[in-house]
Amino acid sequence: MKAYRAAILRFADDRTALYEEDGLLVIGPDAQGQPVVRAVGPYRDLADRFPGLAITHFPGRILAPGFVDLHIHCPQTDVIGSPAEGLLPWLENYTFPHESRFHDGAYATEVASFFLDELLRHGVTTALAFATSHPSSVEALFQQAQQRRLRFITGKVLQDRFSPDGVRDQTEQSLIDTEALIQRWHGVDRLGYAITPRFAPTSTPEQLRGAGELAARYPQVWIQSHVAENLAEIAWARELFPQSRSYLATYADFGLMRDRSVYAHCIHFDDSDRALMRDTGAAAAVSPTSNLFLGSGFFDYQGADRVGYRYGLASDVGGGTSFSPFHTMLAAYYVGREGQTKPGLSLSPQHLWWQHTAGAAAALGLAGEAGAPSIGNLNPGCEADFVLLNPKATPLLARKTAQARNLDELLFSLIVLGDDRLIEGTAVAGQWCAPRAAD
Ligand code: GUN
Ligand code: ZN
Repeated sequence: MKAYRAAILRFADDRTALYEEDGLLVIGPDAQGQPVVRAVGPYRDLADRFPGLAITHFPGRILAPGFVDLHIHCPQTDVIGSPAEGLLPWLENYTFPHESRFHDGAYATEVASFFLDELLRHGVTTALAFATSHPSSVEALFQQAQQRRLRFITGKVLQDRFSPDGVRDQTEQSLIDTEALIQRWHGVDRLGYAITPRFAPTSTPEQLRGAGELAARYPQVWIQSHVAENLAEIAWARELFPQSRSYLATYADFGLMRDRSVYAHCIHFDDSDRALMRDTGAAAAVSPTSNLFLGSGFFDYQGADRVGYRYGLASDVGGGTSFSPFHTMLAAYYVGREGQTKPGLSLSPQHLWWQHTAGAAAALGLAGEAGAPSIGNLNPGCEADFVLLNPKATPLLARKTAQARNLDELLFSLIVLGDDRLIEGTAVAGQWCAPRAAD
């Protein structure tokens, strides 16, 4: 058992934050030997319950749940910052040519290693990530995530049409490869598999049907794709699948909407789409830096909450511009504020932070649902993935956070001014890794 004394941030079921100024976080193994939170609360109440336990004190620091990135592309690490007229030219001119390099396993391993270390440096301890269409890119990512003991989900991209040589796969082989990867990796250590059709336009109906059949056969694996991001993309999807009620409904028609399915973007929805998300248990990966960078549009938070479906935050690197959850939370605030194309609201800092931790975990079905692990929070039983924040990491942060009169002012200062300099340590499965090397 280990214990840490610091301020502690965690979340209640109603999306609000619980904050203990002088808290104690006790970490120890659960019945399966997995390091979890054994106790959390005020230092003065808990310290006596664990006599003899060595306590590491981090004065002036905050312990918070590791961030959960609901949608990111490992192979687009080097695509960040590639400007384009919009999604489709960006895919054609930058993304597909770059992703074609990942047939090379050594290259895929080098990028996967950098990518995961970069996530950890930014305090992200779990991601639902795209690999490429090459099985070698999935192998590389799973191996590197396993070495780092991460709870991590990825899958081979399915794209058997309207894709250039080098990334286009073959219908039957792509489904054989997907099933082999599920059997080899899903449930190994903390790893999970996601069936990953890139988006409806680049899959034949046969490939989507096969993906849906695999989803039915393996109900515990995840599903990830993109939807309703960009107007040209939507027009294209409607042309290719005119029999479906909407672009989103295409996925439902092929059996690809259920619990543990996560769709990136979900911008251009009507209320029937929102109801379909709610009724199927699917979740949206809101990707604000990507949507601003590619000029895609603004996620409608009011619409999502009015109809009541799940969502959480995502970087969507490399359409997205940053690995930093602070940058993503700030961009989500801008997107929420926008009030010309949909209702504009002022999202609270607690809600923004929840979206990137406990909310994203709930979207993945990893918030303690029957038999499932809990991540993205620091309540008792949650897996021991957390970050150590220094609210005085920069001169301006020190000045600003010293003036905070309440939790919202403190969290807003961190969101608006924060980046990787705030992250003093990231702990995965109870062990510190980058940047803090030791207790
Ligand atoms: N739609 C299909 N593929 C992609 C991708 O790689 N990034 C984004 N942002 N949208 C997509
Ligand atoms: Zn994406």
